[in-house]
Amino acid sequence: MGGKLLPAAFGAGSPLLSQVATSAAHGEDSPYFAGWKAYNENPYDAVTNPDGVIQMGLAENQVSFELLEGYLREHPEAAGWGGGAGSFRDNALFQDYHGLKAFRKAMASFMEKIRDGKARFDPDRIVLTAGATAANELLTFILANPGDALLIPTPYYPGFDRDLTWRTGVNIVPVHCDSANGFEVTVAALQEAYDEAAAAGMRVCGVLITNPSNPLGTTVKRTVLEDILDFVVCKNIHLISDEIYSGSVFAAPDLVSVAELVESRARHGGDDVANRVHIVYSLSKDLGLPGFRVGLVYSYNDAVVTTARRMSSFTLVSSQTQKTLATMLSDEAFADAYIRTNREHLRERHDHIVAGLARAGVSCLRGNAGLFVWIDMRRLLGDGDADADATVAGELRLWDKMLHDVKLNISPGSSCHCSEHGWFRVCFANMSSATLDLALARISRFMDRWNKATTPQSHH
Ligand SMILES: Cc1ncc(COP(=O)(O)O)c(C=O)c1O
Repeated sequence: MGGKLLPAAFGAGSPLLSQVATSAAHGEDSPYFAGWKAYNENPYDAVTNPDGVIQMGLAENQVSFELLEGYLREHPEAAGWGGGAGSFRDNALFQDYHGLKAFRKAMASFMEKIRDGKARFDPDRIVLTAGATAANELLTFILANPGDALLIPTPYYPGFDRDLTWRTGVNIVPVHCDSANGFEVTVAALQEAYDEAAAAGMRVCGVLITNPSNPLGTTVKRTVLEDILDFVVCKNIHLISDEIYSGSVFAAPDLVSVAELVESRARHGGDDVANRVHIVYSLSKDLGLPGFRVGLVYSYNDAVVTTARRMSSFTLVSSQTQKTLATMLSDEAFADAYIRTNREHLRERHDHIVAGLARAGVSCLRGNAGLFVWIDMRRLLGDGDADADATVAGELRLWDKMLHDVKLNISPGSSCHCSEHGWFRVCFANMSSATLDLALARISRFMDRWNKATTPQSHH
């Protein structure tokens, strides 16, 4: 293999690649991914690289990993081959694309536990996928045609630009939310986005929300969720609710899942809502298993379930993974204890970082869920010159300083399409407490320097 030949494959003189292959919608050029690269080139390590970059741009949950490891130590059969060569055969040979019934049952029960029994899930409506990434794309393929629009409230998870648009040819039209009401979605903002899409000649196929929100770390209020449901009914479009962080709500108010509203409207003989609602879930966040690639689509629409199941052939979950997790999650006592303890761990971490940031003079949006805080550094843009630099460029300059001088990789709000500049997402669950404290010390030192540089000197 001549490594040197590879770059030329994209250049002149080589056979053409597809429009999908050559489009920029993969999103890897954004600061969100650039920060990951900078981290990879100089990763912090307490012993071997104490001045390296601390990765705070990765929404990964490692705070409860020892619970999973403890379970596997006590139940080695769950992760092993169990019956030996016979079970190896079982795992290795043909897999029915319906997914293992035992695993779908375990997932349905886990999703009910997370919602404190306030919603029911039918295992036969669960379609397994390789993570929420695949689930979101798969739903987009089913609900939209190339050129159609999906309305998504901002700020949103940067990966959506890739997951929902790159291969499907669908457009994201942002629903602009701002800090005046804590970034809540309003009907006016939904309507504005809808009109904008229509004016651009796009058919709007649906709204996609993330509840709890990445990057805000907040849950969507019941009243807001009711408004969103009314909106999709009124426009006769779909609602996708990405509830990947549903098990990571660690403080009041509780999660209100769209599943609860679908059930309550059905009980009251309400409008035709169920057919248009689809939930996405994954074990990447709540269980901290992004490497296992376990996600799902849950739809109340029969045709969507059938199509999603057919399409899931492109993105199945390995049989061994399904078996291991089916054993683990159908252990009721373990699942209950995990959910409770993980919430406690996240709350401790969250409260610790919020207090540390407050001491450094950095405030955040009040959050109750997820693996991150949404911090407000608007006053730092333009180095204190009022709002002179409250632009994307100003925000990215600050981001660059945080990355290269302070040695912290955090995600700029602009990579989440936030319409206000100076907000950043900071993850707190992918590192040890000691590393988190070091990150807080670095921020504190940076803020001290900034305060000294911007406070007018007093004259004696
Ligand atoms: C809102 C949201 N959806 C989907 C994903 C993708 O998750 P998965 O690892 O299950 O593909 C993420 C990961 O960060 C996310 O935050």
